[in-house]
Amino acid sequence: MKTVVVSIGGSVVLSDEADSSFLQKLTTLFKKISEEYKLFVIVGGGSIARRYIQLGRQLGFDEDTLDLLGIDVTRVNARIITNLLGISNKEIPHTTSEALKLNLPIVVMGGTDPKHSTDLVGAEIAEKTRAVRFVNATNVDGIYDKDPKKFRDAKQLKEVTIDSLIAQYGTTWGAAGKNIFMDEPALAIIKRAKLTTYIVNGKRLDQLEKALTGQPFDGTTILV
Ligand code: UTP
Repeated sequence: MKTVVVSIGGSVVLSDEADSSFLQKLTTLFKKISEEYKLFVIVGGGSIARRYIQLGRQLGFDEDTLDLLGIDVTRVNARIITNLLGISNKEIPHTTSEALKLNLPIVVMGGTDPKHSTDLVGAEIAEKTRAVRFVNATNVDGIYDKDPKKFRDAKQLKEVTIDSLIAQYGTTWGAAGKNIFMDEPALAIIKRAKLTTYIVNGKRLDQLEKALTGQPFDGTTILV
């Protein structure tokens, strides 16, 4: 069975409003996908993680401690998803090697160690499992030429090369809670492992399904 890895932003799980019916539909989609593919779901921390990180930063905590706060939140979000799925792991693995040992149709996890985000965890699992695709489900419709939340005329990019992303963002981890479409160290893995990578809006389940199954979707393809 082929493997697909999806990294789902924490904001898709819980932001200001809880959306239980959306989560039911999301996990129903994951179960449908798992009939055809082995699925790894890596869950992010989103705005809740960033609020804890902001609090810790105001209190003068060091960067690794701020990352650990973020990691804890990703694991809480992962626990929500895994309990809803019912057919995945009960406990949340703390490392990618622990996750890779689990012989289950769907494996759900959050973050692992400081100095990267869950994007890197997803890229690492995709590399190690030789996944057919790595899907990053975020809260915007792909990568834009500028921030679509700030600029009305921002244009969605249908395709972008990994080299141009690395030229623009680099491959060094910035700071805890930094919220970009894909963390910089993950870009290095995508290039090295030549991962087929899609960026899609995780709230648009029809588009997410297309991206997960490799059909044309509304979002951005990273060319490797
Ligand atoms: P996320 O993966 O959620 O990052 O981890 P994000 O960029 O804010 O992504 P969205 O909004 O969910 O899509 C939140 C924070 O937790 C720490 C980092 O500080 C990260 O910014 N973290 C997470 C780690 O240090 N290591 C990990 O493996 C995962």
